Amino acid sequence: MCGIFAYAGTKNAVPLLIEGLRSVEYRGYDSAGISVIDSYGEIQTMKRGDHKSSLENLANAVGDSLLSGLVGIGHTRWATHGEVNQQNSHPHSSNNGSVSIAHNGIVENFIELKDRLVDSGIEFQSETDSEVLAHLVGNAVASGNSLREAVINAASQIKGNTAIVAVSTAEPDLVVGLRVGNAGGIVVGKNDDVAVMASDTIALLPYTSEVIYIEPNEVVEIEKGDVRIFDLAGSVIDREPIVTSQNFEAAQKGNHPHFMSKEIAEQPEAIQGAMRGRADFSNGTLTLPEISLTSEQMRSLDRVILTGMGTSLHAAMFGASVIESLSRIPAYAENSSELRYRNPVLGPNTLVVAVTQSGETADTLAAMEHARSAGAPQGVVLELEGSQATRIAEFTLPIRAGQEIGVASTKTMIASMTTLLQLAVVLAETREAIDSDQVKVIVESMSELPSLVASALGINGQISELSERLSKFEDLLYLGRGAQLPIALEGALKMKELAYIHAEGYPAGEMKHGVNALLGSDMATVVSAPQNDLYEKMLSNISEVKARGGEVVAIATEGDETIKRVADHVIYVPECPELLQPFMTLIPMQLLSYRTALVLGRDPDKPRNLAKTVTVE
Ligand code: G6P
Repeated sequence: MCGIFAYAGTKNAVPLLIEGLRSVEYRGYDSAGISVIDSYGEIQTMKRGDHKSSLENLANAVGDSLLSGLVGIGHTRWATHGEVNQQNSHPHSSNNGSVSIAHNGIVENFIELKDRLVDSGIEFQSETDSEVLAHLVGNAVASGNSLREAVINAASQIKGNTAIVAVSTAEPDLVVGLRVGNAGGIVVGKNDDVAVMASDTIALLPYTSEVIYIEPNEVVEIEKGDVRIFDLAGSVIDREPIVTSQNFEAAQKGNHPHFMSKEIAEQPEAIQGAMRGRADFSNGTLTLPEISLTSEQMRSLDRVILTGMGTSLHAAMFGASVIESLSRIPAYAENSSELRYRNPVLGPNTLVVAVTQSGETADTLAAMEHARSAGAPQGVVLELEGSQATRIAEFTLPIRAGQEIGVASTKTMIASMTTLLQLAVVLAETREAIDSDQVKVIVESMSELPSLVASALGINGQISELSERLSKFEDLLYLGRGAQLPIALEGALKMKELAYIHAEGYPAGEMKHGVNALLGSDMATVVSAPQNDLYEKMLSNISEVKARGGEVVAIATEGDETIKRVADHVIYVPECPELLQPFMTLIPMQLLSYRTALVLGRDPDKPRNLAKTVTVE
């Protein structure tokens, strides 16, 4: 979603702001803009609301202009209030042009504030909620406050989670950032004569690997080579930078046509990363040193709730299924936007495990905060260490997949699943639901996982033809049972988000209760049917679809000749222990949606209306 980048240094900020915005563009955006303080001390703003072309058009426009300055702020907007156009793009200025702000989050009481400001004679230039902040900050500066005081004052009048950056002609060397709640992070860094601020660590990496994360209810000033952090009462906060492990190369496309194809191909390494230092393949043991719960605590758990959104929710569903089947603790997964509001019964014996690659998803963070205040022990499975989720959870299980840029998650899902499988094994062993010999068998099979996934990735050929076929349908059904249900749901989600084809994921056993009414030659069905205890049931489901004139694509285990007799098309995945089958069937789901998106001329890296990091609820 919205991204921020700000610079205060000794070089022309304009091209650097554009580069900074390119680093955060993967979060998802439809408009882009920058404000700089020019050599006369005036604020100059340029912005574009041209959907996906916004940043490119802005880069061309600033390239053709004489715009320059040593201090500036930039923003990529993902529209919530007001359509996508130039006026609604950030930054927004106060009426006299002395202040410019960019904002992430939603000003929930903006109508009331806007009415008040309009009554006082202020003219609004946009339909956004964010513009009220420009005027509130502008008014506070005009009344003699410093920019920092003015930003704090403005933030105190608004409702909702917020991250703001601001510049003022009264203090032309300075950028102020402020964070209230969870509306995307703010991270700062400096080197000799430069200081930078962004919503994402990756934007800072060309300058420094030593970064400081700003917490909620903190305000930060950056100035040439200097970073100063305060609480909202004005007391200085002394915080040492931490050295980030993220690297810039990981966020480059290399020889791949899209980030998504690169990230799909990186999955064997992502699995290795998630197992590194945890699975000991020579001794057949598994440890998760990051878990802060004592063995006693793990033994006294009577429930595990996993939570997340989107693809992470599907990884969480897989996690619930393996935790329950291995450790015999009742476990289920729930959408965070539901969990956060329904006042669930939580306590010291319920382990909450959040799954969120970014660690920034607003609903997931809110559900985590709820769990914390209810006294439930809590862990988070994530990629981006240093993100807000790590500070809410008691323990963090990093998935170590490497930065993911494609909006639709792929390698972070498989690495989250790998991490959750390991969590399931550790819980099961600690609770003596499985013994060390059983652990050894599982660890041995997990050692094969990277190469099994690599060979599943080799099926690309068949996928191209099938994608051509699937692209002809307006409706698709995805069916699965047991641990294959989250995979079917993920297949449908990916097809919707990437190819924009209506796709429904369903438990296969539920078909007769409604979905059968839709079956016919105008809807194709993708069935996840590897060989396991539920295989025969899936064959029956395929026959039911066929009996009603439907076309079936089955994802099946290599060597399964029977399924060819019922399904129209079969995609084979490698044979493996049942516990690992979801890792195999996930691959064709990803490839089918990626290829179908290409057939239909969609951009798989930047699906319309979607964001990688969803920082508002
Ligand atoms: C967005 C992304 C998805 C992702 C979801 C949850 O919807 O487009 O790919 O699965 O957010 O993100 P998280 O960072 O919490 O895993």
